[in-house]
Amino acid sequence: MRLDKMLSECGIGTRSEIKKYIKDGLVCVDGSVAKKPDIHIDEEKAVVTFKGQQVNFVKFEYFMLNKPQGYVTAVKDNVYPTVMELVTDNIRNDLSPVGRLDVDTEGLLLITNDGDLSHRLLSPKHHVPKTYYAEVNGIVDEATVQVFEAGLDIGDEKPTLPATLKIQDIDEVSALSKIYLTICEGRFHQVKRMFEAVGMKVVFLKRVSMGSLTLDEALELGKARRLSDEEIEELRGE
Ligand code: URA
Repeated sequence: MRLDKMLSECGIGTRSEIKKYIKDGLVCVDGSVAKKPDIHIDEEKAVVTFKGQQVNFVKFEYFMLNKPQGYVTAVKDNVYPTVMELVTDNIRNDLSPVGRLDVDTEGLLLITNDGDLSHRLLSPKHHVPKTYYAEVNGIVDEATVQVFEAGLDIGDEKPTLPATLKIQDIDEVSALSKIYLTICEGRFHQVKRMFEAVGMKVVFLKRVSMGSLTLDEALELGKARRLSDEEIEELRGE
């Protein structure tokens, strides 16, 4: 890999900034000052330093974020803060969220630069299950469970695929239902639209799992942590 590419992927700066750092003698490779940005190095083995600090190359990074409300699932946004602002100890600068949670949705969001994994998790062919906890205005009952299981018309070309609805608690007085819903698709606003289709409104939504990955209960809202090797392996095996 080119030295300037390796340094920019490690978040040291833009290609032109890196060119200048190299010109100023701030970058060393295996103990010698690097002369040119386009030299090729073995990124896995070379000892690269910037201003005397070792720069570690990692190909892929994986973070689990417990997304809070008020953050948009994007790399850049002009209105809201982005979920990327909550991932702070990343090395690479090419991470992005896998899929999308609405600005008012909380919970599990995977953030990585592993494009193949993202693609597999999001591909409509793979039907990766995603489970949400939701609080809904309205009384969810056995009939609702059956309708969700059968698939319902939410105004798209095709009805939704079978979804599993589990009732956790119903407050008859305030007409509030607490449920878990597992869907195997990722349509725009899908959970909210499924409940709208049966005349109910989602008032709180939180994703708790995606494929084999489950939201870590110990992870505070707004915090991110690296996935363990085991979590990565399991996800890759999906
Ligand atoms: N379904 C929704 O309606 N919103 C989300 O954020 C995720 C799934």
